[in-house]
Amino acid sequence: MRRFFSFITCIVITAGCSVSDNGIVNVKKRDNFSLIVRTPEMKIVSRVTVRKRNGTQEVFRHCSREEQNHGCKPFNSERTTLQIGNEAVCVTLLDASTRDEGVYDVEVIDNKSIRICRNFTVALTG
Ligand SMILES: *[C@@H]1O[C@H](CO)[C@@H](O)[C@H](O)[C@H]1NC(C)=O
Ligand SMILES: *[C@@H]1O[C@H](CO)[C@@H](O)[C@H](O)[C@H]1NC(C)=O
Ligand SMILES: *[C@@H]1O[C@H](CO)[C@@H](O)[C@H](O)[C@H]1NC(C)=O
Ligand SMILES: *[C@@H]1O[C@H](CO)[C@@H](O)[C@H](O)[C@H]1NC(C)=O
Repeated sequence: MRRFFSFITCIVITAGCSVSDNGIVNVKKRDNFSLIVRTPEMKIVSRVTVRKRNGTQEVFRHCSREEQNHGCKPFNSERTTLQIGNEAVCVTLLDASTRDEGVYDVEVIDNKSIRICRNFTVALTG
């Protein structure tokens, strides 16, 4: 029930910002934007990693409690929020600026080590 609720929250949050399925995210300066990865067949999300292709630097990492017990260290910034729903994982970055432009690789891994990877190209408009 809680997971279902977070997916609804994700929809509500992303309704007002720039979202795209084809990997292109056009966002206005100061708006929030979301990187959404559909995960319909995943039951338990163990890790979510977001890398920016400017040296493949990690900008966000989520580890489930079990993964943390295995040494995974979560990494976050104040501008990043995560929603894990039944159908999708949604990473939202707040207050877009030119430093956010670029290509992102998002990797979602479940507790059976099945991984889904998506890339997103973020560009500022206006
Ligand atoms: C971005 O998200 C934050 C936190 O949810 C919210 O307070 C703010 O109004 C949003 N900004 C825009 C431009 O929608
Ligand atoms: C890559 O982008 C991140 C997030 O925008 C930034 O914090 C980092 O300094 C950048 N790294 C390089 C090597 O430009
Ligand atoms: C993954 O989670 C599911 C659902 O809780 C569980 O049934 C399964 O045994 C878990 N698999 C592993 C490898 O931990
Ligand atoms: C993103 O992924 C798609 C398909 O998975 C691929 O065709 C495309 O070249 C990738 N884009 C970038 C910028 O890596």
